[in-house]
Amino acid sequence: MTRATVEVRTGYPYEVHIGSDLLPEAAARIAKRTHVVLTDAHVAPLWAKAFGAAPRIVVAPGEASKSLRVLESVLDELVASRMKRDGLVVCLGGGVVGDLGGLAASLYMRGIDFVQCPTTLLAQVDSSVGGKTAINLAGGKNLAGTFHQPIAVYADVATLATLADEEFTSGLGEVVKSALVGDPSLLDELTENAGAIRARRVEALIPVVERCVRVKAAVVAADEREAGTRKTLNLGHTFAHAIEHAAGYGTVPHGLAVSVGLSLAVRASARLGLLSDPELPERLARVQTRLGLPSELEHLPALTPAALHAGLTHDKKGQDAGRPRLVLPRAAGDLVLDIPADDALLAELLG
Ligand SMILES: NC(=O)c1ccc[n+]([C@@H]2O[C@H](COP(=O)([O-])OP(=O)(O)OC[C@H]3O[C@@H](n4cnc5c(N)ncnc54)[C@H](O)[C@@H]3O)[C@@H](O)[C@H]2O)c1
Repeated sequence: MTRATVEVRTGYPYEVHIGSDLLPEAAARIAKRTHVVLTDAHVAPLWAKAFGAAPRIVVAPGEASKSLRVLESVLDELVASRMKRDGLVVCLGGGVVGDLGGLAASLYMRGIDFVQCPTTLLAQVDSSVGGKTAINLAGGKNLAGTFHQPIAVYADVATLATLADEEFTSGLGEVVKSALVGDPSLLDELTENAGAIRARRVEALIPVVERCVRVKAAVVAADEREAGTRKTLNLGHTFAHAIEHAAGYGTVPHGLAVSVGLSLAVRASARLGLLSDPELPERLARVQTRLGLPSELEHLPALTPAALHAGLTHDKKGQDAGRPRLVLPRAAGDLVLDIPADDALLAELLG
């Protein structure tokens, strides 16, 4: 079976291993170090047995676990398990477990090592790589966090077999984003291989995850702390956050909102005369259709223009003095940052 390794050249470089049935290998590699497995109640019965009798911390599945209360309980459990500074946290799960566990590891005794074992498509192609950790506060998502890179990532695509269809399809939205950000030929290959990818065939998934990780690793290595180019990873996200805010968080899966956000970004680019690849709208729509992703606002639950506009100005990441600033594609792999969106453009895009 093929497998791949991608190096992430951050201040502390590490490797991302991508393959099938990698969890036993991950367990064997860390066996000599004192470790605790942090996972959630969905993933634990499915995939934690690879880690044998290692102590487990099991949190409730879902975004609500990215809270100060759950963070505190995780830190308390690390104390209870007598974890020392040379200990290791294994984050086995989706982006929630990865963000929470990464933050706990960065805080515990001023920082201990952690390993990411992502089990959702989103976590494998995006959140497990790059070292952003976070919990949510009452005032918003991901408002408290750190940069803390894992010492290794093991993305076992076999774990995706048990993922709910909606979660898998949502992850495909981030896959398409990665292709647009930094791997133009992946866009068309996703279209060609859509059947095998949607059937979750491991030989189709391994190269897709690998190429998305390469895109993310290159961006993160160039800008570890998001001072500039890392913002390219927010392509489609200003619109996606507006959609999620307007619909009520949790109503529209994130990756589906991202997919529509990508279409809106391409449309904005065309409208502003920035688009250099006139075929991009068509190429994007083709891959979205083949992967079962929405491309238009009409494909989502009805959202009023007023709610979408309110959502746009709510997005703190993508704005400047209340005015959204957009990441827009000239072509796949060629993005421009910080394009101010005027009211006329937004009215045209959002209705
Ligand atoms: N740190 C970053 O750079 C970064 C980037 C993007 C997103 N994120 C964060 O990631 C989070 C979303 O991550 P997510 O989409 O993975 O959600 P998630 O972690 O909530 O997982 C989604 C659901 O799938 C279940 N699950 C996970 N793996 C499974 C498997 N193999 N089989 C069956 N069920 C499984 C989980 O229990 C959960 O119910 C958000 O909080 C977001 O802010 C972080």
